[in-house]
Order: sequence, then C-alpha cells, then structure tokens
Amino acid sequence: MKKKHLIAGSCSLLVVLSLAIWIYSRYDVWFGNPPEKPYLPPQRPERVLLTFGTEDEWTRNVSWQCDSVVREAFVRLAEEEGGDTLLIPAEGETFRSRNGVSAYYVARLRALKPATAYRYQACTDGKESPWYGFRTQPASSNRAISFLYMGDVQDTLGGKANHYLKAALQRHPEIEFLTCGGDIVERPMDSYWGELFRGVDSIGQTLPLLTVTGNHDYLKGVIQKLERRFSLVFSYFLDSMIGENQVFTLRYGNLQLFCLDSNRELPYLLEQKQWLESKLKESSAQWKVVILHHPLYSIKGAMNNLIQRYVFDDLLREEGVDLVLQAHEHAYARMTAHRPDGTAQPPVYTVSHCSPKHYRIRFDKQFDRYGISGRYYQLIRLEDDTLTVATHDAYTGSLYDKLQLVKPEGKEAQIIDLGKEIPEYLEFHGDPKRKKNQRYLERIREYKQWRGIATE
Ligand SMILES: [Fe+2]
Repeated sequence: MKKKHLIAGSCSLLVVLSLAIWIYSRYDVWFGNPPEKPYLPPQRPERVLLTFGTEDEWTRNVSWQCDSVVREAFVRLAEEEGGDTLLIPAEGETFRSRNGVSAYYVARLRALKPATAYRYQACTDGKESPWYGFRTQPASSNRAISFLYMGDVQDTLGGKANHYLKAALQRHPEIEFLTCGGDIVERPMDSYWGELFRGVDSIGQTLPLLTVTGNHDYLKGVIQKLERRFSLVFSYFLDSMIGENQVFTLRYGNLQLFCLDSNRELPYLLEQKQWLESKLKESSAQWKVVILHHPLYSIKGAMNNLIQRYVFDDLLREEGVDLVLQAHEHAYARMTAHRPDGTAQPPVYTVSHCSPKHYRIRFDKQFDRYGISGRYYQLIRLEDDTLTVATHDAYTGSLYDKLQLVKPEGKEAQIIDLGKEIPEYLEFHGDPKRKKNQRYLERIREYKQWRGIATE
C-alpha cells in the first residue's frame, strides 16, 4: 500500500514538474512582450485618423498625436463649397506606454450634413496638420452602400498595406469606409503604430476606418491588457465602451454594424452578449453585420474559439444577422449556416486576413471554400434586397470568391454561391523536407481529393 502511494506521489510530482517546465519554456510566447524601443512623440499634429463617432451615421471623430504635454487643440472644419470655418475643440490626454509618452487628441465632429464634402485640419498649440478632406454619404436610406473589409493587417515594419489599400481603392472607388477585423498592429509598440499609419497614409484621413480589437493589439500577460492608446486612436470606443468591453455599433443607411471584442474572458463576453442582444433587438436595419476577431467556427483547430461560439452564435442566428466578418486565423474561409432541409441560410461567416503571415488550417468540410498562402480583402455591397460579398486577392486584385445573400420581402433569404467556378488556391510554399510541412501537404492533398480538385 505504502509502495503504491509512493509511486502515485512520484508520478504526480513528475506531472507537476513537467507542467512547470513546459509553462516556463512557453512563458515568453504566451505572456511575454518584446520590449518597446524608446520613441519621441511627433512635434506637430501627426498620425491623424478619421473614424466614426457614435452610432449615428452623421458623426465622425478625428484623432491625432502631438508632443507629450496636453495643450489647447481643435479641428478646423469647413465645407468645401464655402461657408464658415468651425473650430471643433479637441480633448487631449497624455498616454505613457512602456518606453515613451505622447499626447493624444480627439475631436468629435457631430451633426454633419449629408452628401457634403468637408476639409479639416488638426491643430495643437498653434501647430497644424495638413488639410485633409472627406465626404459624407447621401441621406437616402435605401441607396447602395459599399465598404471594404480587411481581416488582420498586422504588417511587418516597412510592409505593403498601403500599396494593397491604394490598389483596392483604385479598383473600387465606390467604397465609403474601411473596416478591419483586429490585429491592426503586430504588437502594441510605437514602431508598429507608426507602421499602421504608414499603411493607411492618405487613406485613413479621408475614409473612416473602423476596427475591432485583436489579440495582437493587446499587451500579453497572465491577464492581457488593452492599452489606452488603442481607444485614443480608434476613438469611438471612448464613448461606446460597456464596462471594460470595446464594443461599438454604427447605423449607416440600411446597414448596422456591430463590433465585438472577442479577445476577452467569459464574464466579459457575456456582458458583450447582453449588449449585443439589446442592440440587435432594437435595430430596424435591413442588413446586420457583425465583426469580431476570433472565428466562431475555427479553421485552425476543432477546439479553438468554442467559448466565443458558445456565447454569440445562437444569438446571431436567432436575431437575423446576415454576415459575420472574422479574422485571426490568417487564411481565407467561407461558411454558411444551413436549414434542416440542407439549403444555405444566413448568417454567412467569413475568415480573412491581409497580413504577410499565413497559418496552417485543418480543412473542416463544413466550410464552402478556402484559400491559403494569399492576402485578401472583401468588398461588401448592399443594394436593394441583395448583399454581395466579393473576396479579392489583394496581390493581384482578381476575384477570389463571391456570394450574394438575397432577402426578397416576405420570402426566405437565399444564398447564391457565385464562387463555385473560381478555382480554390491551395498551394503551400513551406519547405517540403520538414516533417510538419509534409503532414500539412498531405492534409491539403486529401482535401483536394475530397473536393475533386486535381492534385499533381
Ligand atoms: Fe489574432
């Protein structure tokens, strides 16, 4: 008996020790943050960003940085067609990150006129940014709306986001605003924030940019933490947060967007669910689109993101959400819900990214379509009773996937798959000599066989 206890005790000790060694070896990966290089704040108003303000579509916020001490600041706002120049006071706040300090400003532009071209300039203590311009949308509630969605941007320093964004806007000049699925920076460090602003240079000052939070936007730790500067840049969160939850909703014509923070722990997700439920129930919008970082149906692992799915998925289905835009898993995938008779029905779930990093996926057969090794963006267009999601290859601009969700009045929603004829791109470029890569290549081959795609 004594011997048995001794063996059991030794085994337990071994398990605990192995676990401790494993956690120790992985500690930096899970909980560590690379050091932030020291930086100086800009001496003039820089890193100017145009975004939405409140749920009301006739608002915009402008945020910027200047120096490290808060001074008097405002936005000079004028209509292009003449009229008075208004001075909109800005709220300033100093934010100290791990290795530097800067003053951040937010000016709230309210009661804007429909279909009006404005120009604006950020001013702090007599120093001025260049003039930028934006145009508000027409007031008609049933007009066509187009916007662009990018999953993770998460660019490396000196990356290509600006090139891809500019090319996308040239292809689709009808885009009215930009949305992002989080991980907008690789790490919460000044250098990566600088990279983001290079990425959106001349775009993020003209078209409103809206993002949700991603895990890379957080500072890692046993309890992860979102720095205040995230909300000081994406400043709609300053007024929309529920407790500690970065949530936001925007009514824009016949569309309502709902932004969630899927990075949080269960109690916070439940708070978000409560908020989302009330906002969905009170929404009269024809189209409801949810954006969150973690895919509710993971393409990486069967056990991934189950908490997010458990919290949100039933609600999205019950409250008639049409489209769920997701990110995080660095590949492309599209899935639809199904009725008991097998026909596709909303919501449509997409996973996408526009980052230089590519992850391995598991090719779950409940998805309609995948894409690997590429960067993508979605052009979303709402017109009459049809929502169209067109996924493009960000490298070439070519169409990679397309579907339409049609909701004729009084009839069941219908999903038309227009991507069937476009070949799935499933080429993996890793070193085929590595065992891990060989297993992945085998998985790709099996999936291709199952889909009837020719394999070499
Ligand atoms: Fe992520």
